[in-house]
Amino acid sequence: MGEKNPARTGQKMRVLAVLCSGSGTNLQAIINAIRAKELSARIAVVISDNPAAFALRRAADAGIATVVVDQKLFPTRAEADTEIARHLARYAVELVVLAGYMRILTSALVRQYRNRIINIHPALLPAFKGSHAVRDALRAKVSVTGVTVHVVTEELDSGPIIMQREVAVYDGDTEETLLARIHTVEHVLYPEVIRLFTEGKIQIDNEKVHIVNNR
Ligand code: GRF
Repeated sequence: MGEKNPARTGQKMRVLAVLCSGSGTNLQAIINAIRAKELSARIAVVISDNPAAFALRRAADAGIATVVVDQKLFPTRAEADTEIARHLARYAVELVVLAGYMRILTSALVRQYRNRIINIHPALLPAFKGSHAVRDALRAKVSVTGVTVHVVTEELDSGPIIMQREVAVYDGDTEETLLARIHTVEHVLYPEVIRLFTEGKIQIDNEKVHIVNNR
């Protein structure tokens, strides 16, 4: 209803913030895709809740601005997320990319950036939600798991699915070997989905993702 949400109109989103808590191999894959000109985007800022995240080093090495919003230093989650929102506005961020960000965003932030926050999850959602997706898939003895990129909503790991890829589970897989195979897929899939946003090919309407004109 006259909503000016860029994700609804399929506006091109090229200015990214990447939020990470850990190693940042997905961040690295995005940096590499931009360098290789496979992705016409700019990472304006990398934000982490964890001052020791290796992702911050990767960002600094690539000349990207970094910000730490350490939730321990804020009285409430709401105040920490307000700080994040301040940085997103300051860098005129168009698309917020969660890449191993281990905090749940507050509803206020999700609403403010509705349909403009995406996440990558190491399973085929809606299976194996939560932070132990790889272990849970192994325990469930599935023969196929995978990777999901989805829109972030207020409910954890439940937003509209943008794209999924399967990953086979082999006999004798450990969490480590399976995660390594999942990572390889993530590093291709996430830049691919971000490319669609930069080209304005993603439209989200009524909680459903439409991919238009994808070559
Ligand atoms: C990825 O496996 C992603 O699916 C999950 O967190 C992990 C982040 O890994 N949400 P990295 O920090 O990008 O290496």
